[in-house]
Amino acid sequence: MSMACFSPSHLIKFLLFTSTLLFTNIEAQTSFRPKALLLQVTKDPSTLQYLTRFTQRTPPKLIDIVVDLGGRYLWVDCDKGYVSSSYRPVFCRSAGCALAGNNGCGQCFSPPRPNCNNNTCVVGPDNTVTYTGTGGEVAFDVVALQSTNGSNPSKAVSVPRFIFGCGATFLLDGLAKGVAGMAGLGRTKISLPWQFSSYFSLPRKFAMCLSSSTNKDFPGIIIFGNSPYYLLPLREDLSKSLIYTPLLDNPISTAPSYPLGEPSAEYFIGVKSIKIGEKTVPLTNTALLSINKTDGYGGTKISTVNPYTVMESSIYKAFIGAYSEATKGMKRARSVAPFGLCYDSKNIGSTRVGPAVPVVDLVLESESVYWRIWGANLMVEVGEDVLCLGIVDGGERSPRFMTSIVIGGHQLENNLLEFDLARSRLGFSSSLLFRQTTCANFNFTSIDN
Ligand SMILES: *[C@@H]1O[C@H](CO)[C@@H](O)[C@H](O)[C@H]1NC(C)=O
Ligand SMILES: *[C@@H]1O[C@H](CO)[C@@H](O)[C@H](O)[C@H]1NC(C)=O
Ligand SMILES: *[C@@H]1O[C@H](CO)[C@@H](O)[C@H](O)[C@H]1NC(C)=O
Ligand SMILES: *[C@@H]1O[C@H](CO)[C@@H](O)[C@H](O)[C@H]1NC(C)=O
Repeated sequence: MSMACFSPSHLIKFLLFTSTLLFTNIEAQTSFRPKALLLQVTKDPSTLQYLTRFTQRTPPKLIDIVVDLGGRYLWVDCDKGYVSSSYRPVFCRSAGCALAGNNGCGQCFSPPRPNCNNNTCVVGPDNTVTYTGTGGEVAFDVVALQSTNGSNPSKAVSVPRFIFGCGATFLLDGLAKGVAGMAGLGRTKISLPWQFSSYFSLPRKFAMCLSSSTNKDFPGIIIFGNSPYYLLPLREDLSKSLIYTPLLDNPISTAPSYPLGEPSAEYFIGVKSIKIGEKTVPLTNTALLSINKTDGYGGTKISTVNPYTVMESSIYKAFIGAYSEATKGMKRARSVAPFGLCYDSKNIGSTRVGPAVPVVDLVLESESVYWRIWGANLMVEVGEDVLCLGIVDGGERSPRFMTSIVIGGHQLENNLLEFDLARSRLGFSSSLLFRQTTCANFNFTSIDN
């Protein structure tokens, strides 16, 4: 990867010592401002986690990181193998520490190294898969990734002082093999989208399109900053055909560890009811669908660390009951954990949008605004001739499972989602299979020249 360099001292050197011809080139380079940034996202076959990769440190190291949509910031294991001459601790009472929430000051009684410095800003990095956290120092280091014009990757760009939290090696337990940490895209001032938007003066939004394939050669994408979003073979900008719904605030954190009083960094939307094939699922306690602003329980959020949608038990039972009713004529198969409703797929037809099964609508702020979930996002192939409804029972709510409906990875795949932080809204496309494309159809031919 080449890195664009914006340093004024370089510019001055070139102004003084280079020819006019070179100057033109340099000017073109220094005036380069990305319109948007690009990450590719693969799906790990064993954990079903979504992984991305970018460069961090000096010398540059390509790191694999678990994508955590509602995570608060980037954290990496600083204890094992972190080597970088550009690593800098963020000190207490500094501007960087204020962005990270000013959670106190750290001391370390060993020789200085990454995650062991004095007078440093402290955070609590957490693993949202295993629901564990630890303490670590906040640090800066250089991060580099590709830019994009919306249809192809372009020049690599770097953020010299990207803020992240130092996690520990044990915090990687439960994550895909070989990853260095988790990349939080949530609603905080140090999440990836916030820092990229601030540094490059981009609109505060990002789009995510997860591929359903676990083949590394068919990755999905995340684009930070400006639209458009193009996927082959379509010639239309997909940002032009999204449906929008407000992102809701949850004033109480839903993270494993967090500073007192911090609101949830996760993305909540207002599901008012659920329909199966146009029929409303009767729920015993509709209050579960709203966020309780006193204790932060309830509501619906979107998550990339849950491979399947999770529902609170009473909602799950009602949903499975209604789905079972709507598919009375379909031959069942024995249930395969973690799923509770499975079918013999030999008699299920297939359509452009997956198995021919009743659709599910998540009805949002009004009857006319709904997120339609088609067969490909509902059914999971669990073996030969067996398809299961890819929704799982979350049990009773608890401090670890606060949100009534967690829309998980399988339901997000091949849907383009735009998280607009500035306007506090979610744009969604529903299944792209309808338009004969997938999230794995970004044109990765680089136009960096
Ligand atoms: C931090 O300060 C203490 C007390 O002055 C000292 O013993 C320790 O070595 C220092 N740690 C680092 C990492 O510099
Ligand atoms: C991106 O750049 C390539 C190469 O210049 C061009 O073919 C393509 O149309 C551009 N895409 C957009 C959305 O501007
Ligand atoms: C919200 O949570 C508080 C505290 O747990 C509880 O007292 C209250 O009844 C809840 N409100 C609703 C509408 O469930
Ligand atoms: C992918 O982008 C490159 C560069 O713009 C272009 O030459 C190529 O035709 C595109 N591929 C397809 C299949 O459109």
